[in-house]
Amino acid sequence: MPTETKVSVSILCADFTKLGDEIKKCEDAGVDMIHVDVMDGHFVPNITIGQVIIEAIRPVTKLPIEAHLMIENPWAYTDSFIDSGANIISIHAECYGERRPGCRQYGEYPKEVDEIDIERARQDVIRIKNKGAQAVMVLNPGTPLCLGGLMTDLDGVLVMSVNPGFAKQKFNPSVLAKIIDLRENYKGNIAIDGGVNELTAPEAVKAGVNVLATASYFFGSDKPRDVVKYLKSLGQA
Ligand code: DX5
Ligand code: ZN
Repeated sequence: MPTETKVSVSILCADFTKLGDEIKKCEDAGVDMIHVDVMDGHFVPNITIGQVIIEAIRPVTKLPIEAHLMIENPWAYTDSFIDSGANIISIHAECYGERRPGCRQYGEYPKEVDEIDIERARQDVIRIKNKGAQAVMVLNPGTPLCLGGLMTDLDGVLVMSVNPGFAKQKFNPSVLAKIIDLRENYKGNIAIDGGVNELTAPEAVKAGVNVLATASYFFGSDKPRDVVKYLKSLGQA
């Protein structure tokens, strides 16, 4: 069972005109990893950044870089994200099952499934790991725990606490029950992403989370070092 609480900072709220300085700010503040939110305008209703940004920041930091792939057909891109320098590849369970009615077409969000094709997902997880990266499965708020026997192959599970697509959204507390359930039978890394702040983070850690992802709470603070210190102090007995 992980004993430390780790902090993963999403550069989605960084100032992209000075990205190198923003990465340095993360390092100086003691963050554990850099989280890169990749959105394709299909899996989520927004478009952000891709491999070129990871290639650009790779030489300026030794911190692990996590590519959170909010994209359709993630299997077509995992290799190139690893080649660009990502150490952790996070792929969505919703890409491996039949979508619920109401989120099947382009423009219908959030994407949600009730079950996934475990073997299909396992192939991609193994492919990521064989290429030397860590593989994390992500669950949207409306998608239940559906990873079954895949969990033993994973390096972690990321539970979304907002519907993906945008930073600065409000934390959805209904996902805490899913985390409590997951922690009961999963000893690996459990991350949470979306709406993490000084009020929501303690709840998440209490439920069983050991990796806190944040964009706006970190970059919106004029004391980023204190933000990280506080988040990392959570969960310590
Ligand atoms: C949401 C992204 C999150 C987001 C977090 O689609 O996956 O990583 O940027 O932003 P905050 O911390 O502002 O909720
Ligand atoms: Zn993210």
